[in-house]
Amino acid sequence: MSNSQKVAIVTGASQGIGADLVDAFRQRDYRVVATARSVQPSGDPNVLAVAGDISQREVAQRVVGEAVARFGRIDTLVNNAGIFIAKPFTQYTVEDYAAVLNVNLNGFFHITQLAIAEMEKNRSGHVVQVTASIVDHAINGVPCVLAAITKGGLNAATKSLAIEYAKAGIRVNAVAPGMIKTPMHKAEMLEVLGGLHPVGRMGEMSDISNAVLYLDSAPFVTGEILHVDGGLSAGH
Ligand SMILES: NC(=O)c1ccc[n+]([C@@H]2O[C@H](COP(=O)([O-])OP(=O)(O)OC[C@H]3O[C@@H](n4cnc5c(N)ncnc54)[C@H](OP(=O)(O)O)[C@@H]3O)[C@@H](O)[C@H]2O)c1
Repeated sequence: MSNSQKVAIVTGASQGIGADLVDAFRQRDYRVVATARSVQPSGDPNVLAVAGDISQREVAQRVVGEAVARFGRIDTLVNNAGIFIAKPFTQYTVEDYAAVLNVNLNGFFHITQLAIAEMEKNRSGHVVQVTASIVDHAINGVPCVLAAITKGGLNAATKSLAIEYAKAGIRVNAVAPGMIKTPMHKAEMLEVLGGLHPVGRMGEMSDISNAVLYLDSAPFVTGEILHVDGGLSAGH
């Protein structure tokens, strides 16, 4: 096993975009640490599965610790774990609020702090957030202020950290998806959701994985919020 082989951590890796990202990184010959509450052990020796709730600091410590112990380095962290609850503002419960902030913000904060501390030792690394295009372009009929608070916060944090670490060799970017065909969406909603996009359809998981891989291989790109959204953020 070569020491120059890169290592990526992917959160929310048990299904959807995260699972696709694990495959995409493996196709580029990265070693991958895949984490989610229900992630299953992999038969691939270059994929380490670490199960746990990413909102918990202890889980983030375990993911980063096991990544370094098993693979010796962390080149890329993809903060993909996230939940989406669309409701009229006054109908959100306190539990909804806590759940979304826990996964989307605490799940970013703990592991990013720990991973960047490792990247600083090598003066090299890349952190990518999977945020959401809808936070830049609210859609009448899709009320989701908790996504706006959390994913909008992550977009802002992306720029803030990109500048803080620009001279430390650590890049920080985000991919802001439109609506993507994943288990997050019910089958009966796909046509309606597709119609919300200027291109008239939803995106594929590979659209997001390809965008993450592009950013990972783009050394002059940092602080970028890359919209992969069929034109959604451009307007209607
Ligand atoms: N699909 C879309 O249309 C769309 C649009 C914009 C943005 N996004 C963003 O893209 C990302 C991936 O979305 P997706 O559609 O692939 O979602 P998904 O199919 O629902 O998968 C979400 C992933 O997050 C993990 N997760 C949820 N809560 C967690 C927790 N407490 N601790 C650890 N892992 C947790 C889930 O695993 P476990 O349940 O096993 O923990 C799962 O692997 C999310 O951040 C989402 O907000 C998606």
